[in-house]
Amino acid sequence: MDIKIKVQRFDSKINREPYFQTYDIAAEPNERILDCLNRIRWAQDGSLAYRMSCGHGVCGSDAMRINGICSLACQKLVKDCKGPDIVVEPLPNFVVIKDLIVNMEPFFARVNQVRPYLIAAAEAASKEFKQLPEDRKKLDGVIRCILCACCTGACPNVTANAKFLGPAPLVQAFRCIFDSRDSQHLERLKQVDHSDGAWGCDNLFKCTQVCPKEILVTKSINLIKQEIEKSLR
Ligand code: FES
Repeated sequence: MDIKIKVQRFDSKINREPYFQTYDIAAEPNERILDCLNRIRWAQDGSLAYRMSCGHGVCGSDAMRINGICSLACQKLVKDCKGPDIVVEPLPNFVVIKDLIVNMEPFFARVNQVRPYLIAAAEAASKEFKQLPEDRKKLDGVIRCILCACCTGACPNVTANAKFLGPAPLVQAFRCIFDSRDSQHLERLKQVDHSDGAWGCDNLFKCTQVCPKEILVTKSINLIKQEIEKSLR
């Protein structure tokens, strides 16, 4: 089938405003939007800029807005995009560097803010640190996060409040708060107990709707809020 892909273009070194460029290509319904972008770049326009790496929903580098929905280009199929044109834009809530490439540094700085790694008690360091299957199960959903930032791109609370930690960093916080082996439970709760932390989420569920790994992001944030009420009040 012949399709039109309308891509938002912008080069911060050249353009003052973004603009759209439409490419005509032939594509199979089961092809992914990433396949289409690759073909455009390889055969039509080598200047088109976007990130990709694994091509299989693992690295999270090709998050973008496709027909208004934040998605991974390597997971979104042509047949799932309603025409006439397929509109591809960079992730909202991020500064665009070039075309579909956004500056991810502030996002990863926020992730690092929550210390997204296990901090075990000193006595646990010298031996195997076991976890009960039921405790491990509590982390089943959140460990799927690939930090693609689709959730942050889709979140109206991030749009309204530039200081809001945002959904993905809160998912990382959840990962550690509810890890039975972590020694910083209360400190971690205190770290997100404010209006720019867990309480910055207004339960709009946009993050949950777009998460390519089907993580219950909003529910996870609400569980953090409940834990704050239980343990800090
Ligand atoms: S290219 Fe790695 S997630 Fe899509």
